[in-house]
Amino acid sequence: MFDGHVALITGGTRGIGAAITTMLAKNGVRVAAGYSKGQDAAEALQKKLTAGGAQVSVHQGRVDQMDDCARVTAEVLARFGRIDFLVNNAGITVDKTVRKMTADDWQNVLNVNLFGAFAMTKAVLEHMIERGSGRIINISSVIGETGNVGQANYAASKAGMVGFSKSLALEMSRRGITVNVVAPGFIGTEMVEQMPKAALDAVVEKIPLRRLGRPDEVARVVQFLLEDESSYITGAVYTINGGLDM
Ligand SMILES: NC(=O)c1ccc[n+]([C@@H]2O[C@H](COP(=O)([O-])OP(=O)(O)OC[C@H]3O[C@@H](n4cnc5c(N)ncnc54)[C@H](OP(=O)(O)O)[C@@H]3O)[C@@H](O)[C@H]2O)c1
Repeated sequence: MFDGHVALITGGTRGIGAAITTMLAKNGVRVAAGYSKGQDAAEALQKKLTAGGAQVSVHQGRVDQMDDCARVTAEVLARFGRIDFLVNNAGITVDKTVRKMTADDWQNVLNVNLFGAFAMTKAVLEHMIERGSGRIINISSVIGETGNVGQANYAASKAGMVGFSKSLALEMSRRGITVNVVAPGFIGTEMVEQMPKAALDAVVEKIPLRRLGRPDEVARVVQFLLEDESSYITGAVYTINGGLDM
């Protein structure tokens, strides 16, 4: 399916990102997984996957710092020589109602989730343009479409990713680079498991399929979009949310 392709996955060492890293690495992609603070998790995942014969590197860097994005890109190119796929997956939440939300709460979430996708894309884009090929996947969220109490900053960042992705898809349409969005619903990762149990139960009650999604189910959609046969898909938003937005 993949043959020596190289993927850079931001936030690729935990949660959904780790599932993407794992699935791609097991299917022959050489994967560079980024992280910001969780060095132990990063090294544990790298060890596990390389023991199974995969080629995986891990890279510390903040996606909201352009210098870090440039450094990580240089590290990946030095290690693997090319970058075929960029998955902008790193994301955070700082949940508060707008009345209680501070400017910092707003800015921090927008910086990591939206500016981070822009900054990482900027760091990789010229390389993809030079090669005349590339795939960029931005991980948004169902919340970007529906909104959610206590998540105005997060919803704005995730809705913003859709507009960013469609604009970039148009700009790159004659350069062999496709840009798509994967918008998960509620997936069982630390980000969701930190919600109070009562709130989580109420969420599951509203999901037509009556369960949280699994990280590997999201990874499958990302992998599909990265396959050669998906080359006619660009500017699209793929939802995976158990029917939550019907
Ligand atoms: N879980 C869900 O239900 C759900 C639903 C819809 C969309 N999403 C989106 O899916 C993506 C992954 O979510 P998740 O649930 O897997 O989250 P998670 O388990 O909390 O993992 C987040 C990842 O992002 C990295 N990260 C955070 N801040 C960063 C920064 N400033 N620079 C670089 N990396 C940073 C973290 O690195 P460290 O390990 O170093 O902290 C970690 O690897 C996010 O964009 C999230 O918004 C999640």
